[in-house]
Amino acid sequence: MPSLLPTGLVCLILSQLSPSATSQRLPQIQQTSVTDYAPFTNVDCPDFSTQPLLRTFSAENQTLHPQEVEYVNTRSQTVLPRAWADWLGDGSSLGYTLSDFQNNFPKVGIAIPGGGLRAAQYGAACLEALDARNDSAKAAGTGGLLQVASYMTGLSGGSWITGSLFFNNWPTIEKLVFGDENLSGWMLDIPFVTPDGVNLFSDENQWFFGSLLWSVMAKAETGIDTSMVDPWSRMISYHFLNQTTRDNFLTNDTAHGAGQLWSDIPKLPTYQSYQAPFPMVVADARPVGSNLTTALGLDATVYEITPLELASYDPSLSAGMNLTFAGTRLTEGRPENGTACVIGLDQAGFVMGTSAGLFNQILDFAHDTIRDFSADDGAGMLYVLSRLLRSVRTRADDVANWPSPFTGLNAGRFQDSAANWLELIDGSSNGENVPYAPLFVKARAVDVIVTAEGSADIPGLNWPNGSSLITTRARQATLLRLSHQQFPPIPDKPEDFIELGVNARPTFFGCDPRESPPEYPLVIYLPNAPPFNGENPVANTATFQLTYTIKHTRKMFDQIHNNLLAGWVPNSNGADPNWGTCLKCAAIDRARLKQYCYDPANPTNKSQLPNRKLEFVDPDPQGIDRLGGFFSRSKFALIGAAIGLVVLIAALTFGLLWWKKRKNQEAEYKKLLNDPGWDAEPLFMQHATHRRMDSYELK
Ligand SMILES: *[C@@H]1O[C@H](CO)[C@@H](O)[C@H](O)[C@H]1NC(C)=O
Ligand SMILES: *[C@@H]1O[C@H](CO)[C@@H](O)[C@H](O)[C@H]1NC(C)=O
Ligand SMILES: *[C@@H]1O[C@H](CO)[C@@H](O)[C@H](O)[C@H]1NC(C)=O
Ligand SMILES: *[C@@H]1O[C@H](CO)[C@@H](O)[C@H](O)[C@H]1NC(C)=O
Ligand SMILES: *[C@@H]1O[C@H](CO)[C@@H](O)[C@H](O)[C@H]1NC(C)=O
Ligand SMILES: *[C@@H]1O[C@H](CO)[C@@H](O)[C@H](O)[C@H]1NC(C)=O
Ligand SMILES: *[C@@H]1O[C@H](CO)[C@@H](O)[C@H](O)[C@H]1NC(C)=O
Ligand SMILES: *[C@@H]1O[C@H](CO)[C@@H](O)[C@H](O)[C@H]1NC(C)=O
Ligand SMILES: *[C@@H]1O[C@H](CO)[C@@H](O)[C@H](O)[C@H]1NC(C)=O
Ligand SMILES: *[C@@H]1O[C@H](CO)[C@@H](O)[C@H](O)[C@H]1NC(C)=O
Repeated sequence: MPSLLPTGLVCLILSQLSPSATSQRLPQIQQTSVTDYAPFTNVDCPDFSTQPLLRTFSAENQTLHPQEVEYVNTRSQTVLPRAWADWLGDGSSLGYTLSDFQNNFPKVGIAIPGGGLRAAQYGAACLEALDARNDSAKAAGTGGLLQVASYMTGLSGGSWITGSLFFNNWPTIEKLVFGDENLSGWMLDIPFVTPDGVNLFSDENQWFFGSLLWSVMAKAETGIDTSMVDPWSRMISYHFLNQTTRDNFLTNDTAHGAGQLWSDIPKLPTYQSYQAPFPMVVADARPVGSNLTTALGLDATVYEITPLELASYDPSLSAGMNLTFAGTRLTEGRPENGTACVIGLDQAGFVMGTSAGLFNQILDFAHDTIRDFSADDGAGMLYVLSRLLRSVRTRADDVANWPSPFTGLNAGRFQDSAANWLELIDGSSNGENVPYAPLFVKARAVDVIVTAEGSADIPGLNWPNGSSLITTRARQATLLRLSHQQFPPIPDKPEDFIELGVNARPTFFGCDPRESPPEYPLVIYLPNAPPFNGENPVANTATFQLTYTIKHTRKMFDQIHNNLLAGWVPNSNGADPNWGTCLKCAAIDRARLKQYCYDPANPTNKSQLPNRKLEFVDPDPQGIDRLGGFFSRSKFALIGAAIGLVVLIAALTFGLLWWKKRKNQEAEYKKLLNDPGWDAEPLFMQHATHRRMDSYELK
């Protein structure tokens, strides 16, 4: 179908007619048409001898991507000192003197879990309550925590906020979600799957489906397998990326986010100015060939997608792939040949769709239904999928298909070593709905992890029950002992979380580490919870609710905001006036440990202790002051006298010894001379070398 040939492909074919001999020239990915969703295949690879695409390390000796280290360090040196000061002032209200820390602040990460649009909205409202730019949050003392964070992770619905913030240039949450004269907002009142309402065959819905399919088929034409995750990724892009407005929603006037790449984040102004935490998105891998349609085991590989890499710090893999080239198939780190590289697979929509792709668990091929989606949304998804499958081949319909760059690595340990595709699925598929894994990676040395916990766990009620934390703790205690920090102490069972009420109010886990450096970070757990003041809850909606009225979203944000600014007071429906201060204390607390505890991995230096005198000075020399004064005034005279005394004693001793020796020799010589049986000559010669003997003889 030639009319579907994307402009990108045409460019590629033209560029291949004039092959570039040595220097690598990458095709320019446009952001003008929905077909810019197509990656470019068969592009020149970089010179592998100098620029490998794959980075491998080991669990015992982890390395981070150098550009990540650069970003986090530069941000912590240039942006964070002001952010901490803006939040904590001079520290005196907490009993600290902030300047004493000399910019040695705790490293803070924020985790935003999955759960569709509920989790996305909970996470966003939570960020707003921690955002210094929000007046009421700032006044309550909670606003400012977002600004001091070094890392931010998103999973599924949580990844949508992460992407949305970056690709809209880090606006306030208010503008991002509700829009202003420049931004369209998330437009959650426009149904995700069927923007024109339930009639799949209305003209508008058909145009919309046509646009989605035009994108996905452009990708499929390159030979890279697509799946249901691709149209899903395109739907996500319409709401969370920046090119879609109410007016152009049902047009082909813009690319609707196609061509915006996750690996382009480093080029965005927010990143260039080190304004935001370093973003990471989590996805799981279904073992290729398993065809699993249930939850994954703990040993399934967990991936992170950063602006730099598709990577896994699981000991079984311990490798990262240059994200720009993430569609490239590598075997033991090498492409098939010098022009077998792929760029442009890391579409922002596809990254967010991959992290949120749980179709393998809800798509029922036998009955042609999608569990959990509303009947209308499910019908819409299946309709689009069926039209897709009619036109293109696909290897696995229900997962995100990523050509594998990790083939041949760690055979016997890495689950997909023999596969040349990765089957990436929703990051929550192994039971870890909170994207903790990247934040616990030892090399990142995160001190404080804020959890914007919007999981829906308790059946029918959709509040969190800690099951994700329990799962992460189990994974870290077994498979990730070498690579990740431990999890702080938490209740053992979801029933306990509920019984203790720690899932229904802000809770800090890990306040009292036993080791130095601490064996685990401090986890600040901010669960989506029933309103503290007894109001009717409006934020515990179902994961698969894919449409919200503006009014509902507004109400949801306000309620979450009030709850997070209130903290809790035992046995009361009142707000805690000290909550903001308490949160500040928790965030800064590990700085005290950092300053005072011995950490073999981060040794201090005695040069940090300037102007210290080492010589003992007797504060109270014995004797009366007058005498002390005499001694110090006559110091040199006294030293001279002491030396004179020593010389005198030495001279006397020497003289005595000489005299004694001379007497002995005299006696011996006389004895020899008087002995007639001896030949005196040799003995005399022997003694002649002796000066004192000479002098004796001269006498
Ligand atoms: C750790 O890895 C780095 C980078 O690969 C390497 O330079 C260093 O020698 C390794 N250290 C140890 C102890 O293996
Ligand atoms: C702060 O957040 C609340 C809750 O979403 C919102 O109502 C308010 O408008 C925000 N204020 C600012 C200045 O953004
Ligand atoms: C959308 O964001 C991109 C950066 O990802 C930027 O280049 C572009 O100008 C933005 N478009 C609109 C319509 O704001
Ligand atoms: C909208 O964008 C224009 C141009 O960048 C800017 O001058 C204006 O302040 C923006 N409006 C708002 C509400 O941010
Ligand atoms: C955009 O163009 C494609 C291909 O011609 C078409 O299938 C689709 O319906 C169009 N979408 C809209 C909203 O007009
Ligand atoms: C998984 O599905 C593929 C393709 O349908 C099939 O060839 C393979 O045998 C299946 N594997 C298992 C373990 O069922
Ligand atoms: C990816 O590879 C290209 C080409 O070698 C290089 O310019 C770029 O810096 C690499 N990106 C990362 C994040 O390593
Ligand atoms: C290089 O690899 C690509 C992708 O596998 C293939 O299409 C192309 O024909 C190969 N070129 C050569 C010269 O082998
Ligand atoms: C806790 O959450 C898990 C997973 O979300 C769920 O399967 C389980 O039924 C929940 N248990 C309780 C007691 O809420
Ligand atoms: C301590 O600091 C001094 C001066 O900055 C440096 O020369 C020395 O190598 C450092 N020692 C250690 C053990 O790092």
